[in-house]
Amino acid sequence: MIRKIALSTAAALALTVGGAYAAGNGGHVTDFSFSFEGPFGTFDEHQLQRGLQVYTEVCAACHGLKQVPIRTLGDEGGPNLPEDQVRAYAERFDIFDPELDDTRPGKPTDHFPRSSLANAPDLSMMAKARAGFHGPYGLGINQLFKGIGGPEYIASLLEGYTGEDKTEAGATLYENHIFASGFIAMPQPLYGDDVVYADGTEATLEQEAKDVAAFLMWAAEPKMMARKQAGFTGVFFLIVLSVLLYLTNKRIWARVKGKKTAA
Ligand code: HEC
Repeated sequence: MIRKIALSTAAALALTVGGAYAAGNGGHVTDFSFSFEGPFGTFDEHQLQRGLQVYTEVCAACHGLKQVPIRTLGDEGGPNLPEDQVRAYAERFDIFDPELDDTRPGKPTDHFPRSSLANAPDLSMMAKARAGFHGPYGLGINQLFKGIGGPEYIASLLEGYTGEDKTEAGATLYENHIFASGFIAMPQPLYGDDVVYADGTEATLEQEAKDVAAFLMWAAEPKMMARKQAGFTGVFFLIVLSVLLYLTNKRIWARVKGKKTAA
């Protein structure tokens, strides 16, 4: 039995390592390493703050984050902004208030606005709606080892432009290796040096792409750290319980088994 399991595991591993996997259509999603990967990974609050800056100064021109309450920017384990900065951030938006029948400055309890460009999708859930890794052969083993790859997909997409474009039915499409159809309606948003980071980090294209991807991962799963911690506590208790049950079991059967060996 054990040999059988070992054999099939080895076969599966050989497939992963040996089998060429096709990510997307032609373009390879880069397996960036993020601080929140693995069972003990946590969000890097400085990276989330930089990602928020890129989102605000570049992406927000077209994309919304309508599922994300602005107050969560102050959450520990998230961007962890001080309260006055969260309030100041909220005030930059003009929110329509049906009670006043007018617009008013945003409050931390409001959500981020929705997309201002009709064909730009809302990014609240994007990091969990896309997969960066597939296969091999539809088995999903790459996802088992590398994760689903939503943030890796986003970061690779932002770096995947070739600079070519074409016009189709009156709309300009931009060539991008990572996008499924090869041509995307989003013009290249990042080139490097698009923002001046408040913390002095150099704003290269890869840095910006990774930071905004990490921020979008947090937006899509703000409670990831709590989930991992709950899982870990659960497993710990199950281990303790298993040990107790094993010892209890031994004790209950000790008399019966003991007799057998004696006889
Ligand atoms: C000029 C407007 C504009 C800006 C600025 C912009 N986008 Fe987009 N984005 C779009 C449009 C339009 C689409 C839809 C593209 C399509 O479906 O062909 C899109 C699609 C996307 C997608 C989804 C791709 C997919 O797999 O469907 C992601 C992710 C994305 N944008 C991220 C970003 C990020 C991150 C930024 C900021 C760095 C950004 N965008 C800036 C217009 C924009």
